[in-house]
Formats: sequence, structure tokens, C-alpha cells
Amino acid sequence: MSVVKMKEILHRAVDEDYFVPAFNVCNLESFRAVVEGASETSSPVIVQLSMGGRRHVGNPSAFLKYMMDYADSIPVPVAFNHDHCPDVDSAIEAIAIGFSGVMFDGSHLPFEENVRQTRLVVEAGMEKGVAIEAELGRIPGFEDLVFSGHAEYTDPLMAVEFVNRTGCSSLAVSVGTSHGGVESPDYLSLDFDQLKAIHEALPGFPLVLHGAASLPPHLVDDVNSVGGKVPYLRNCSEEAISKCGSLGVCKANMDVDNFLCFTREVRKCLIENPEKYDPRVYMKRGMDGFRAEVEHKIRSVAKSVSRSWIEG
Ligand code: G3H
Ligand code: ZN
Repeated sequence: MSVVKMKEILHRAVDEDYFVPAFNVCNLESFRAVVEGASETSSPVIVQLSMGGRRHVGNPSAFLKYMMDYADSIPVPVAFNHDHCPDVDSAIEAIAIGFSGVMFDGSHLPFEENVRQTRLVVEAGMEKGVAIEAELGRIPGFEDLVFSGHAEYTDPLMAVEFVNRTGCSSLAVSVGTSHGGVESPDYLSLDFDQLKAIHEALPGFPLVLHGAASLPPHLVDDVNSVGGKVPYLRNCSEEAISKCGSLGVCKANMDVDNFLCFTREVRKCLIENPEKYDPRVYMKRGMDGFRAEVEHKIRSVAKSVSRSWIEG
């Protein structure tokens, strides 16, 4: 049984001072890339579905059941989290679908309303023991379908009040990362002092980093060299992200870099094999590219290699 609850995967990470990478998936290939990459590196992993992913798969309950059955054959801990539910109803639906972790993103709301709505979701998840991830502070950039134009760093004292009043299981914080990258001449700077202050105000409490992809220019170069027209946006460097494990971060969401690798490989495959039209050919190449990036993130950023506690 390799499917584990979000609460377990979070608290092991907190206790052992590392973070578990969380990857959004939207189809068979991205899902297999994540869990097989985690298996190859003996790392615990969090598989996520966003609101856009929920729509893309058509029947999220059926997709989650497939993923959980498949994950049971993977010899590393795998937890399933629903990412960025923008309202209470979609969060309650995510709980009903069967995720053991659900993110309610009330960061666009005034503080008191964020507290009130997050508390409603926490109460809705209690019976099933669902871990509710909340967000305080504003992370710039695009997340799925929601754009937040400016950053509002998470205030440590407000974070303490928020956690105490909502009972959320983990907290996504704004400390300099962005969703999907923003225009910048260089890597964004991650505010380690802000993160340290939040961690010291909430010792032992699971913090979550969103926008933990780094968009290294070479990845964008690679996609654009095979017909892509991807803009050069920037985020925080892998080196900066990697340091967050010792500052209370126990989950880090990182997507765009994997998507770039998937896209690069599909584009290359179609150019190299113009006579091919079997989707399995180019989707497998995309899956392999996605998986290689997952393994790279595990080895070089999360450094969660061999943290698996599953025998086998
Ligand atoms: O919730 C999803 C993540 O925050 C994705 O952000 O692709 O910029 O890493 P990223
Ligand atoms: Zn996010």
C-alpha cells in the first residue's frame, strides 16, 4: 500500500527537515512520469490535480481511482492533493472526490473572509481527515486560471493568527516565488528572512512553497529551438528553492519546468518522425521528458532521494 495520506507525508517532512515535491498532472503520461520518477529515486511524492486538470480529465473521480490503483504498485509513498480550489464549493467537491489533501486558495480574499472560508473547508474535511492547505499572502503570476498581479508577502504574525483560527493543516506562503514566472532580467530573489520569520513564528508547522519551478532560460531555449515561441519569464533559482527545506517548507509545487520538458520532447519527436502519427509515439517521448525533469527536481532541488519509508 504505497498511497499515503497527505497528513503523513507532510509531518514526516517537517520532522526530518526536507520538502516533498508536488507535481500537477493532467493525463496518463504526466501521472506516470511523476510516480515512476519518484520510484526511480525512492522519493515520496505528491501528485496534484488543479481545477484546469479536473476539467481536462473529464471525470476526476475515475481519474483519481485509476491513479490510486496504479500508485499502489509503486514502491514509494504517494499522496494525492487537489491544488488551488478558488472557492468553498470546489474545495468541498475535491474532498468528496477523495483527495486526502485539498488546497483552498482564499489568498484573493480580505483576511477575515479568508479565515472564515478556510475554516468552512477545514470543517468540511474533518470527518475524512483531509489535510487542508490554505494560502495567506499573494503570489504573483498565473495559477491555472487566476492571475495575481502583485506580490504581498505573508506576514508572520498574521500567519500565526490565521493558522490558529482556521485549523488548516499547512500554509502556502508568499516569500518571492511567482506562479509560472514573471518578466525579470534575472532570477527572482527569494526572501529567506521572511520565510525564516514565518517558520520561527510557526515552528513545526508545514509550510508550502508555490511557484517552485525555476524556468531556467535553457529550458525555454530548448522548446523554442524546435518551433516553440515560449516567452522568457523568470522565477526563483533551483538553488534558492532547494534551501527552503530547512526553513519549514515541507511541500513545494513545481510545474512549469516539467511542462517545458514534456513540450520540448513532443515537438522534437514530431520533427524527427514526420511520418509517425501514432499518439503513443510522441506522448511517450513527452512522458520521458517529464519524468527526467521530475527525477532532476527530486535529486537536485527537493533532495528527497531515498526518503521513501516504503519497503520494497
Ligand atoms: O500550484 C501550482 C504551482 O504553484 C505551480 O507553479 O509551475 O510556477 O512552479 P510553477
Ligand atoms: Zn500554486
